[in-house]
Amino acid sequence: MKVLCYSLKPFERPEMMRANNNQHELIFTEQSLSLTTAALAKGCKAVCIFTNDDASGQVLEALHELGIVYIATRSAGYNHIALSVAKKLQMRVANVPSYSPNAVAEHAVALLMALNRRLVESQLLMQMQDFRLDALVGFNIHGKTVGVIGTGQIGFAFAKIMHGFGTRLLGFDPQPHPQASSIGLAYVSLEELLRQSDIISIHCPLNEHTQYMIDEAQFAIMKQGAYLINTARGGIIRTSALIKHLASGKLGGACLDVYEREHGLFFHDHRHAILQDEAFIRLRSFPNVLITGHQAFLTVEALRNIAQTTIDNLNAWEQQGRSLNDLYD
Ligand code: NAI
Repeated sequence: MKVLCYSLKPFERPEMMRANNNQHELIFTEQSLSLTTAALAKGCKAVCIFTNDDASGQVLEALHELGIVYIATRSAGYNHIALSVAKKLQMRVANVPSYSPNAVAEHAVALLMALNRRLVESQLLMQMQDFRLDALVGFNIHGKTVGVIGTGQIGFAFAKIMHGFGTRLLGFDPQPHPQASSIGLAYVSLEELLRQSDIISIHCPLNEHTQYMIDEAQFAIMKQGAYLINTARGGIIRTSALIKHLASGKLGGACLDVYEREHGLFFHDHRHAILQDEAFIRLRSFPNVLITGHQAFLTVEALRNIAQTTIDNLNAWEQQGRSLNDLYD
């Protein structure tokens, strides 16, 4: 079938071409899906999108008018897709549920270690031939209490790594992981997790229940000096509250791979632009905040799995009208 792949970066192309093996007519564009770019999909039966594409109700209706039947997102998260509208329009929607939980979990650990052990400053000082250690004091992860919010595939992979570090593990998830006890992960309420954890890592999806799950009241009960890691979705944290508690010194550090208003910012070259998002500029200004631009997924293994599962989804739709990864029946 003919498929327009939106937001497709050059680094994704080789794996997409390999997985496709000339089965579908794939058209690649770096443009993201929006109401204005929906028309590019004219003549296609499917579109393939990524996390910061706009698949809101209005855009889905525009795609439906053009004859698009299938939406394949190359992501695990699907908060960018208006599923209820897609269902009403009888479009099939599939994601890539588990392309590499370890890629994201390992990035969360990399952020934690880099911030805690001051690796970015250390490298800058090294380049300047300033070999003093005064600004580089970190803390041991061993012996700390780590709270994992959302212990699904990524959260559990993160918890397993933290278990290896010798930490005490707390979890909050409405659906406990069946192997939690094997790594000593104890489930507690969100409040208890926030009160007791030295390090808190977020791995739940963004939806109507989790938006601003970490807000003013949640920051207020965290331990003095707690570290917060978010590789899930920016909207789970209220950015203004995060900034307030960084500015007051309550939070010891924040490791962020996602940002509430990252749409249009991350994945693009803004080198010559004057950024207008004051909250983002403020966040970036804290010495105890480390931000990456939604790159936690970015490993060769993950890119390969994303491409393969996306093509498998397209094949299943073409052959059976349904795919194993359809987000509704
Ligand atoms: P998953 O579905 O395996 O696990 C999510 C877990 O969150 C489940 O166990 C679920 O029960 C739990 N959960 C749901 N609502 C909750 C709530 N209110 N409080 C606490 N836990 C709750 O999903 P997976 O693969 O682990 O991915 C998690 C999220 O990570 C995705 O939804 C996506 O937003 C994000 N992600 C980020 C990437 C990045 O590059 N930064 C890449 C891939 C995923």
